[in-house]
Amino acid sequence: MSTTTDLIDVSERRSAHNYHPLPVVIHEAHGAWVTDVEGKRYLDCLAGYSSLNFGHGNPKIIEAAQEQLKNLTLTSRAFYHDQFAAFCAGLGDLTGKDMILPMNTGAEAVETAIKVARKWGYEVKGVQPEQANIIVMEDNFHGRTTTIVSFSTDPAARDDFGPYTPGFRIVKYGSVEAIREAVDANTVAVLFEPIQGEAGVLVPPDGYLTQVRELCTGEGILMIADEIQSGLGRTGKTFACDHEGVVPDMYVLGKALGGGVVPVSAIAANEDVLGVIKPGQHGSTFGGNPLACAVGNAVIEILNTGEYQSRAAELGEVLHARLRELIGHGVIAVRGRGLWAGVDIDPSLATGRAVSKELMARGVLAKDTHGSTIRLAPPIVISEEDLLWAVDQLADTIASFR
Ligand SMILES: Cc1ncc(COP(=O)(O)O)c(C=O)c1O
Repeated sequence: MSTTTDLIDVSERRSAHNYHPLPVVIHEAHGAWVTDVEGKRYLDCLAGYSSLNFGHGNPKIIEAAQEQLKNLTLTSRAFYHDQFAAFCAGLGDLTGKDMILPMNTGAEAVETAIKVARKWGYEVKGVQPEQANIIVMEDNFHGRTTTIVSFSTDPAARDDFGPYTPGFRIVKYGSVEAIREAVDANTVAVLFEPIQGEAGVLVPPDGYLTQVRELCTGEGILMIADEIQSGLGRTGKTFACDHEGVVPDMYVLGKALGGGVVPVSAIAANEDVLGVIKPGQHGSTFGGNPLACAVGNAVIEILNTGEYQSRAAELGEVLHARLRELIGHGVIAVRGRGLWAGVDIDPSLATGRAVSKELMARGVLAKDTHGSTIRLAPPIVISEEDLLWAVDQLADTIASFR
C-alpha cells in the first residue's frame, strides 16, 4: 500500500472528511520543496498555513528537537522542567510582555485569550458576572472549537454546531467606527486578526491597527491580536501589528512557534492581565512541554536574528511586484504583506480548486480559499528563483484557462 491512489483511497475511507486535500501524498520535505510517494517534487507554497515559515526540516530546529528527544519529552506542568523558563522569558522578550501562557494548538490559545479577557473583565474592570462581551470581526478565522465557531460568520464552520457560546459581538472588519458602535460598559476585549488569512489574506486599511489601539486604550478594553498566522516573520516583521508600530495587550501565537515540528501555541500579556489566572483555572497536559519548549526556544532564537523577517520583506516585494503584473490577465486583485498573498482569480475562468489542481500538476502546491482566491505563503527559506518560477506557473495556469 504505497501508491498515491491506494493511500488516498484508504485515507478517504478510513478518515472523517473534514478536509478536502489535493490528491498528493507527501513523503518527505526539505526547505521549500516536498517530494511525494512517487518521487515527484513540488514547491510548497502553503507552508502548513504558515507553520513552516522557517522551512521544512530547518536544521537548527531539528537539532534542538533531536537533542531534547534524547533527554526529556514530557513532565506535565505538575513539575518544572529545564526548557520552560527560557521559553517563557524568551517569548516574553520577543513580544515585550511580562508573561506567557503556553498551550498547543492555535484554537486553544484563542480559547485561552477569551478566558483571560473575561476573567480580567470581571476581576479588574469590574464587569457584572456573566455580562462580559468581546467584539470580533466578520469573516474571522480563529479555529474550530465550539466557542470559537459560535462567533464565526462562515456557515460551513458554524452551522449545526449549536447551541452557541454567547458573549460575542460581530462587527465589520477594517472599520473602527463599527467597533466603537459595538462597545458598551461590558466590553472586555476586541479580538481580531491583523491580517485575515483564511478570509483571503485581507489587509485592513492603513491606520486601522493604530485606531483600534487608541479606541481600546480610551475605552479600557483589551486589544487582542490573533497573530497565529500573521506573526513570526511571515509579513516581513516579527508581528503584523509592527507594521503600524502597534502593541496589543495580548498576542495570540501558534503555528510557526512550533517550527513545523510540534504544535506550540501561547498567549503573551503583561502581569496586570495574565496575572488573573491562578492554579487550577486553566491549562493543558501538553501545554509548555519540554519538547515544545525546546523547539520554541530554537524558533525564538531564529526570530531574534531578524533574518527571516528581512527575507520575508525582500521576497515579498518581489512576489507582489510580479503578482501585480497579472492583474487584468485573469487576476482581479492581489492582496497581502511580506511573503503572503491572496490572489483573486477571475471566477469566470476557473474555481480556486481547479487552479490549485493545475498548479499541482505543474509542481506547485498552493491552496484555494473562498471560491477563486489562491493563497501563496511559501516557507521564507524559498529562493527568489523558485518564487518567481512559482508565479510563472500561476501565470501559465491562468493562461491555460483563458
Ligand atoms: C488566525 C488564526 N487563528 C487561529 C487558528 C487556529 O489554529 P489551529 O488550527 O492550530 O487550532 C488559525 C488556523 O488557521 C488561524 O489562522
